[in-house]
Order: sequence, then C-alpha cells, then structure tokens
Amino acid sequence: MEVAGQKGRVCVTGAGGYVASWLVKLLLSNGYKVHGTVRDLSEEKNAHLRKLEKASENLQLFKADLLDYDTLKAAFAGCEGVFHVASPVPATKVLDPEAKVITPAVNGTLNVLQACSEKKIKRVIVVSSIAAVLLNPRWPHDKLQDEECWSSEEFCRMIENWYFLSKTMAERAAWKYAEKNGLDLVTVCPSVVVGPLLQPTASTSSLFLIYAIKGGPEPMNNSLWNIVDVRDVADALLLAYERPEASGRYLCAPYPITIRDLVDLLKGMYPNYGYPKNIIEVPPNPPLTSEKLKKLGWKCRPLEETLNDAVECYREAGLLDELEGRTFHFPPLFNLTAKTGTQVSVE
Ligand SMILES: NC(=O)c1ccc[n+]([C@@H]2O[C@H](COP(=O)([O-])OP(=O)(O)OC[C@H]3O[C@@H](n4cnc5c(N)ncnc54)[C@H](OP(=O)(O)O)[C@@H]3O)[C@@H](O)[C@H]2O)c1
Repeated sequence: MEVAGQKGRVCVTGAGGYVASWLVKLLLSNGYKVHGTVRDLSEEKNAHLRKLEKASENLQLFKADLLDYDTLKAAFAGCEGVFHVASPVPATKVLDPEAKVITPAVNGTLNVLQACSEKKIKRVIVVSSIAAVLLNPRWPHDKLQDEECWSSEEFCRMIENWYFLSKTMAERAAWKYAEKNGLDLVTVCPSVVVGPLLQPTASTSSLFLIYAIKGGPEPMNNSLWNIVDVRDVADALLLAYERPEASGRYLCAPYPITIRDLVDLLKGMYPNYGYPKNIIEVPPNPPLTSEKLKKLGWKCRPLEETLNDAVECYREAGLLDELEGRTFHFPPLFNLTAKTGTQVSVE
C-alpha cells in the first residue's frame, strides 16, 4: 500500500548525467525511493547527487555499467519502474564509434530491458532523442515531424553522425524487444536540452548554448533548432511513467528557433558576449510537434526563462569566461549536414 506522500521505488540509469540528475531530484521531491546507477561511486562528478534534498534517506547509488548485465540487475532489484537515461553523448569527435557510442547505446539498452524483464519491472521509460527522428530524407519538408518519423540509419551512417545512429538503433531495438517480450515501454525523444546544471561541469548539449553565446571558429547553420528545458524533460519522463494511458513514443521538442533568432534573443538579454559571427543559411528542415506529449498533460516553461536560468548558471560556474589560449569548438554531434571532419573539442 502507498503511504501518503510516498511513491514506489524506481531506478535511474546514469544518474549523475545532466538529464538524469534533474530527474533524480524530481523523483526524490515527489516522494520516490530512488536507485541511481553510476559508473564510479567515488567520482567527484557524481557528488552533487548526495546533496539533493531527501537524498540521504531516499537515494541509493549503485555502481553499474550498461555493458555489465549483473550490475544492472542488482540496481533494479526491488524497483517497480526503471528510467533508462544513460547513453554516450560525445562532446568530441568519436574515433571508435562502434565501441564508444553504438555498442553502449544499443547493447546497453537491450541489457537494461532484459534486466527489467527478469526483475519484473512494471514500466520502463527509455530516453531516446529527436536524433532518432530528425534525419529522414524521405520525410516531406513541409510536413510536421511527429512520432511516426524515424531517422534513417543509412543516412546517419553516410554523414557519420554516430550519436544519431546510436539513438536510432537503440530506440528501434528497444521497441523490438518490448513487443517481443511484452514489456511496458514508453520512449521520450527530447530535442536539444538546455537550462541550469546540477553537476559541476557543462554537459554536451549545454555546450551548444554556450557556443551560441560565446561564438567560436566553426560556422553555425541557420537551421531550425528545437530547444527544451532540462526540468521540463524531467517532468515529461515522470508524466510518461505515472500516467497509465501513456504509450508509444513522445516527442519532447517545444521550441523551434533558428540560430539567428536564438542569437538575437540572447543578445537582447545579454548584449556583452561574443556571439557567432559566421551563421550560414541552409535549406529549411521540417518542424517538429510535441502535441502528443501536451495531450498527456505536459506543460513547459517559457523559452526566455530557460535561457535566463541557463546563462545565470553558466556565469556562476565560470563557463562563459574566456580561457586564455584555448579555442572553444562546436560539439560535432550537432553538425548534421556535412561529413563531420571538424575538430571538435574544448581544447
Ligand atoms: N542533452 C540533450 O540535448 C539530449 C537530447 C535528447 C536526448 N538526450 C538523451 O538523454 C540522455 C542523457 O543525456 P545527457 O545530456 O544527460 O548526457 P550526459 O550528461 O552525458 O549523461 C549521459 C550518462 O550516460 C552515462 N553512460 C554513458 N555510457 C555509459 C555506460 N557504458 N555505462 C553506464 N553509464 C553510461 C554517463 O555516465 P558517466 O558520467 O560515467 O560517463 C552519464 O551519466 C541520453 O540518453 C541522451 O541520448 C539528451
């Protein structure tokens, strides 16, 4: 029986990551007992989790790797639900895509789902991405991209976007597994996630916004980007878990905006940063719709609030300071048009 104010026990994979940290915070504040998996229990980068409200009584961290089945099974023991969030989100050029991105994403997801079946998990929420939606050359340019749209694995390979390929393959594999094994699965596909950080370092998607503020040597395409607040993603994941009627995929991409408009908006709020000088026009990409998620009851905060809270957080953490002698590069996974040969790190 559920005690008033107390929910069940759930597990979050990759708990110390950007999205997962906000989800853990939300689950704790909603009365859940949370198991969180991390790869290294002693790492400083996960220390923020232990400082979350109610963490001392309701958060238990487990050392687990997506490619180590038994560690996942141990973390899921006693849980009713699992949020599978962990997946490689590379900030730099990937030299060994199969080992570093595709295998952990795809085999990792299958390990998670199999462990869920074995541990009789009632519902699994897998965090996919619009990376599994966007790259579909056959989709008409003037038609809204919705949950029916899937990225083409062939196209992802052709442009060597290993992250997009990994998310597409992982979500497809998840659906195949769930249908075959009767697992209650819901997937959520967020767009570019920004907003304040709970952890001490910038996540890969935060680098996208930091680049749009600071500028850098690489040009930015003036395509339509879709932005979502990290706190709203956490809300979407909880909603997908708690609403019995939730089913299938959910796009979570509320704010389409071109880079030029985003930069103009940011300049109006914070006029004193460098901002990208080289914005190149590209053919328009189809817009996305999050109507299905909104119909489930999802609400999101205004874009200005997200940008404001993100910038204040970056400022406080010193992430917008100029680092002498260092060049700030655009994360290559966001480069969707060219074969990604660009140099790619925060050197
Ligand atoms: N941020 C976005 O814009 C965005 C948009 C759409 C979807 N997503 C999805 O949201 C999820 C979280 O992304 P994020 O932005 O929060 O990235 P993140 O901060 O880099 O978090 C990724 C997490 O995955 C863990 N991980 C990676 N490989 C692993 C492995 N082999 N075993 C166990 N854990 C592993 C990482 O652990 P370590 O810390 O140990 O490396 C980290 O905790 C991912 O599935 C991503 O694809 C993100």
